[in-house]
Amino acid sequence: AQQFLPKDPNLPPVVFHWLPYVGSAISYGDDPLKFFFTNREKYGDVFTFVLLGRRMTAALGPKGNNFILGGKLTHVSAEEAYTHLTTPVFGKEVVYDVPNPVFMEQKRFVKCGLTIENFREYVGFIEDEVEEMLAKNESFVTYRSGDTTRWGSFHALRTLAELTICTASRTLQGREVRASLSGREFAEMYSDLDGGFTPINLMFPSLPLPSYRRRDRAQQAMSDFYVNILNKREAGDNDHDHDMLAALAEQRYKNGRKLSKREIAHIMIALLMAGQHTSSATSSWALLHLASRPDVVQAVYDEQVKHFSNGDGSFRALTYEELRELPILDSVIRETLRMHPPIHSILRKVVQDMPVPASLSSGSSNTAQSRAYVVPQGHFVLASPAVSQMDPRIWKDASVWDPYRWSDPEGVAAEAALAYEDLSGEKIDYGFGVVSKGTESPYQPFGAGRHRCIGEQFAYLQLGTILALLIRNMEFKIDRVPDHNYHTMITLPKEPCSIQYRRRAKAT
Ligand code: HEM
Repeated sequence: AQQFLPKDPNLPPVVFHWLPYVGSAISYGDDPLKFFFTNREKYGDVFTFVLLGRRMTAALGPKGNNFILGGKLTHVSAEEAYTHLTTPVFGKEVVYDVPNPVFMEQKRFVKCGLTIENFREYVGFIEDEVEEMLAKNESFVTYRSGDTTRWGSFHALRTLAELTICTASRTLQGREVRASLSGREFAEMYSDLDGGFTPINLMFPSLPLPSYRRRDRAQQAMSDFYVNILNKREAGDNDHDHDMLAALAEQRYKNGRKLSKREIAHIMIALLMAGQHTSSATSSWALLHLASRPDVVQAVYDEQVKHFSNGDGSFRALTYEELRELPILDSVIRETLRMHPPIHSILRKVVQDMPVPASLSSGSSNTAQSRAYVVPQGHFVLASPAVSQMDPRIWKDASVWDPYRWSDPEGVAAEAALAYEDLSGEKIDYGFGVVSKGTESPYQPFGAGRHRCIGEQFAYLQLGTILALLIRNMEFKIDRVPDHNYHTMITLPKEPCSIQYRRRAKAT
C-alpha cells in the first residue's frame, strides 16, 4: 500500500484503493455516507480519495462544511466542478456558464420572484392541485370510493414527483407550463433532459451515447418552448401572472441590461431541475416515514384540526402565514431533511492551492492528531452536510427519524437547531441577499455561503401544503421505510416504495 500514500506530507491522507483510475468509485458510489463514516474513522475529517481519475478531498463535520461552503472564489469554483453537467441541460449564459458575479445577479432576479406576496397566492394553487390529484389519479380510486375501511396504495416517488411538477408549474413556472404538462411533447422533453442529469453525465462530460444526443435536442426544444411563451405573453395580456417568468422579465443587470428571453428560458429550466427532484424526494421520504409512524401522523392531523377545523368535519383553506406557525408539520420536514438531504456531496474545484488549517482535521481514531494540509489546485473538494446531520457524536439516536427532537429543549439536537439558526456567523451579501458565509452548523440541507439554496422558503411552502392536505384526508401505513438509492444525482428511496392509505373518516 506504500505507493498509495501521499509523497508530500502536506497532502491529506489518501483512501487506500487497488485500482489506480477507478479508485474508490465503487464504495463511494454505492453508499457515500458509509464510505465517509468508515474513512473518517481511519483518516480523520480530511482525506482524499480517487474517483475515476479525479482527486477529491472530503472535509467532513461542521468545520469542513464551513471550510468548503464558505470558501473564497480565489480558492474554489462551483462552475468548474459543475458546468459540464449543468450547461448542456440548463442552456448557455446562466448559472455555471457565466462568471460567478453574473450568476449572483441571476440569483437575485430569482429571489425577486419568490416574494411573500406570491407565496400567499401559491398556497391555494397547491391545495387545488392536491385535490385534483385525489380526484383524478388512478392510485386514489379507493379514496374516491368514499369507503373509510378499505386500504389502497400509491407509489410514493411517482405520486409525489407528479404532485411536485404540477404544483411547481401551477405556481412558479406559470400557467402555460401547467397546461402543457398533460401533453406528450413536454413530458418527452422533460424526461430527455432529466436523462442528461445523472452521475454518468457528471463524471463523463461527453460520451457518444443516444441519451446525450436526446438531452441536447430536448434542451433546444425546452429553451424554445419558454421563449415562445415569453413571445406570446409580450403580445397579449399578462397583467395577472404572479410567476417567475413575469418576475424575470422585469429584472435588469447592474449595467442596466434586461435579461434576454434565452437567459430567462434557461433560468426557468435551471429552476425546474433544481426544485423537482429535491422537493419530490423530500416529500416522498417524509411520507414514507410518516407511514411508519401513525402517532406522528395523528399529531400533524391534530395540529390541522386545532388550527383549521370548521367544526363540521371540514377544514378551511391554509394560509401562508399560518403554515409557517405549525411546529409539528415543520419538524417533520426539518427532520426528514436531516436524515435525507437530497444532495449528499457538494463539490468545488480547487483553482488555487488551498491551505487546510489543523483545526479542521480532528484526527482519526487511529492517529488522534490534528494536521494542517494543503489541497492542491486541480483537486476537487467535497462537503457532505449529510455526514454531520447523521453524526452520532452530534445527534442523539442519529439514525432514528424523530421529529420531536426539534422541540426537545434539553437535547443535543436543540443545540444543533440553534446552530442552524445561528445568526452570529459572519454575514455576507453575495449579491442575492445577505447569507451566512459558511457557518459551522451541523445542519445544512440547503447548503451555505454564496451557493446557498434560494428555494428553501418555496420548498417548505410546497412540502408543507402537500403533506398537510394528504394528512387531512388519509391515514397511511407501510411495512418498512426503504433504504437509500445513491445511484441518482439526488438521494432517492429504493424500491419498493409504495405506501398504503385509507380514507379518513370526517374530522370532528
Ligand atoms: C442550491 C438544496 C429546492 C434552487 C442548493 C444547494 C443545496 C440545495 C444543498 C447548494 C448547492 C451547492 O452549494 O453546490 C435544496 C433542497 C431543496 C431545494 C434540499 C428542497 C427540499 C430548491 C428549489 C429551488 C432551488 C425549489 C428553486 C425554486 C436552488 C438554486 C441554488 C440552490 C438556484 C443555487 C445554486 C448555486 O448558487 O450554485 N439547493 N434545494 N432549490 N437551489 Fe436548492
